[in-house]
Amino acid sequence: MIKFNNISVLRNNKYILKDISWEVKKNEHWCIIGLNGSGKTTLLNIITGYIYPTEGTANVLGKEFGKTNLQDLRKEIGLVSSSIKYEFSKNDSVLAVVLSGKFASIGLYEAVEMTDVETARKYMDMLNCTHLEDEEYGVLSQGEKQRVLIARALMANPKILILDEPCNGLDILAREELLNFIEVISEEKNGPTLIYVTHHIEEVLPCFTNALLLKNGTVFANGRINELLTEKHLSTFFGRSISVQTEQNRAWLALK
Ligand SMILES: Nc1ncnc2c1ncn2[C@@H]1O[C@H](COP(=O)(O)OP(=O)(O)OP(=O)(O)O)[C@@H](O)[C@H]1O
Ligand SMILES: [Mg+2]
Repeated sequence: MIKFNNISVLRNNKYILKDISWEVKKNEHWCIIGLNGSGKTTLLNIITGYIYPTEGTANVLGKEFGKTNLQDLRKEIGLVSSSIKYEFSKNDSVLAVVLSGKFASIGLYEAVEMTDVETARKYMDMLNCTHLEDEEYGVLSQGEKQRVLIARALMANPKILILDEPCNGLDILAREELLNFIEVISEEKNGPTLIYVTHHIEEVLPCFTNALLLKNGTVFANGRINELLTEKHLSTFFGRSISVQTEQNRAWLALK
């Protein structure tokens, strides 16, 4: 699905990513974990082709950057990010926002067919947004917006779905609800490969198989979740003594 070979990104004479080698295979779901400024969003921007690496090669869905049409590639990648400002029109309904995902564009530029509306309703139902269908997107709460954006991303039937800190700004109930929906998406037959970015380890759901731990723009560790999220590893990673409690098959951290 994704293959990075020795990727580096240089900005203002400083490496914001350095020598990243990473491979995501089909049927894996990945978490990218790192503190603020560790390079997570930059890495995602390479997957979607918004940033071109200074060194190294990136291959996404079998296509090498520089040799492929980015617009076509982006249609196969869904991106929901709390750091993107989505420029929907103020009065766009939730249904219109979800439908616009089919064209991987903001706003509806192409004709919508009845089957598109059915698909949009299927995803709205999956993400508990059905009752919001006619609401203006602009007035929704943060948690509702995130669910609508995920439904929107699914409209294009992406092979990879990237979620960049989707639980930012959500209260504990809204967060757990959103995480439940992410679990449901992970169980979909022929569903997308998930790439979930966070700095909160407790958001790492049991459906995630692998993790990439980024530190200061480099790979600190890379592998199976159950081998990485241990007290020993995480204490070295955060540079602090960490205790890990496991509850509901998720790791919950505290500073010792
Ligand atoms: N275009 C740029 N020019 C210079 N520095 C940049 C640029 N883009 C990112 N950086 C720097 O690179 C580092 C990594 O940024 P990035 O946004 O990838 O971090 P992040 O892991 O996503 O952080 P957060 O958890 O806060 O979202 C930061 O120190 C940031 O200031
Ligand atoms: Mg970020």
